[in-house]
Amino acid sequence: MIIGILKEPDFDKRVALLPENVKTLIDLKTSVLIEKGAGLRSFFTDLDYKTVGAENMDRKRVLTDSDLIISINPIQVKEYSSLKENQAVLTAFAPLTNADLVKQFIDTNITSFSMDMVPRITRAQSMDILSSMATVAGYKAVLTAANHLPTFFPMFMTAAGTIRPSKVLVLGAGVAGLQAIATARKLGAVVEAFDVRTSVKEEVQSLGGKFIEVAGSKDDSGAGGYAIEQTEEYKQKQQQLIQDHAKKANVVITTAQIPGRKAPILITKDTVENMIPGSVIIDLAASTGGNCELTENNEIVEKNHIKIIGNSNFPSEIPSDASKMYGNNIINFMKLIINDEGNMNLNFDDEIIKGTCITHNKEIISERVKQIFKS
Ligand code: NAI
Repeated sequence: MIIGILKEPDFDKRVALLPENVKTLIDLKTSVLIEKGAGLRSFFTDLDYKTVGAENMDRKRVLTDSDLIISINPIQVKEYSSLKENQAVLTAFAPLTNADLVKQFIDTNITSFSMDMVPRITRAQSMDILSSMATVAGYKAVLTAANHLPTFFPMFMTAAGTIRPSKVLVLGAGVAGLQAIATARKLGAVVEAFDVRTSVKEEVQSLGGKFIEVAGSKDDSGAGGYAIEQTEEYKQKQQQLIQDHAKKANVVITTAQIPGRKAPILITKDTVENMIPGSVIIDLAASTGGNCELTENNEIVEKNHIKIIGNSNFPSEIPSDASKMYGNNIINFMKLIINDEGNMNLNFDDEIIKGTCITHNKEIISERVKQIFKS
């Protein structure tokens, strides 16, 4: 099988596979083509790829000559239209909300994989791009907040007086949120966090954060890590508590996303208007509508001296390590679908392959995507 790696669009400095990943693919008996300059913005040269056995080519040749085309971001629709039947693509194209592309892959008989659909089971953790990119985003969110803030993160006791530590509120203590808590603590801030899943309370505390909650929640410890529905009265009190804490915070980092749906609003316009001047909100849910009412995707909005940063592209700002994590995720998935002869072999009895493969032989394979098309 010939595998082609494309250069990412201008807004993204990452590359889907590093030279070390390409070497693994070649050891798995595949051939690798890579678009010229694909790794440059992650600091890997064409020669680095050539040295491990890849061929550097122009984009057109990579698209026409590869059996499997790999990219982080989906490519242009017109480029997908130029592919031949039975070519395959591996990217992350949000198929739950991108029905047009799913239909196009069915019509043109393209086998497609979407790395954002890797099932979130223990065996698939090493392939989970959502977790690895959330780790990068959580870390970079804190550094970005620190850069924009007019105050220090840590407490300083100096001859020029005592500086109080900044207060950071993290909303959503999943992968990005926990990384944000850990990073903010390392920089010396006082950290508070909230999540609808109260089962994460201990994780927050173990990282040195304080879990904020209204007493009287229903116990969700038996719900396998998922949130359970709370009473309306409880939800209102909880919402009020979040607004009260946000008004006293110097930094609010929001990370709450719901797969395939718009992100919940956690910070209202009224709260923003009552925050401490100079405070910073980093909204990691910006690409799905944002957790703050005033967020605009990939913009910095300033309102009453509060900055609301809706950056959805943090992984691109740490391109070398983000690419390394992404590449390792892809390689771990590839090992499942490449046979001993270096060809693609899809065993749909494997739930990871079945969940990640969106279309094959003009059919939808992923059950989650099938459900969307039925409804
Ligand atoms: P995510 O990006 O979908 O959401 C982030 C967090 O926001 C979640 O913790 C969620 O509970 C929280 N949230 C949602 N609505 C909220 C609201 N209204 N208010 C406050 N918080 C809200 O989730 P992420 O970070 O991708 O994963 C969440 C969890 O899933 C992880 O912490 C882990 O327990 C589990 N997971 C399991 C994996 C595996 O077994 N392979 C891989 C990755 C995650």
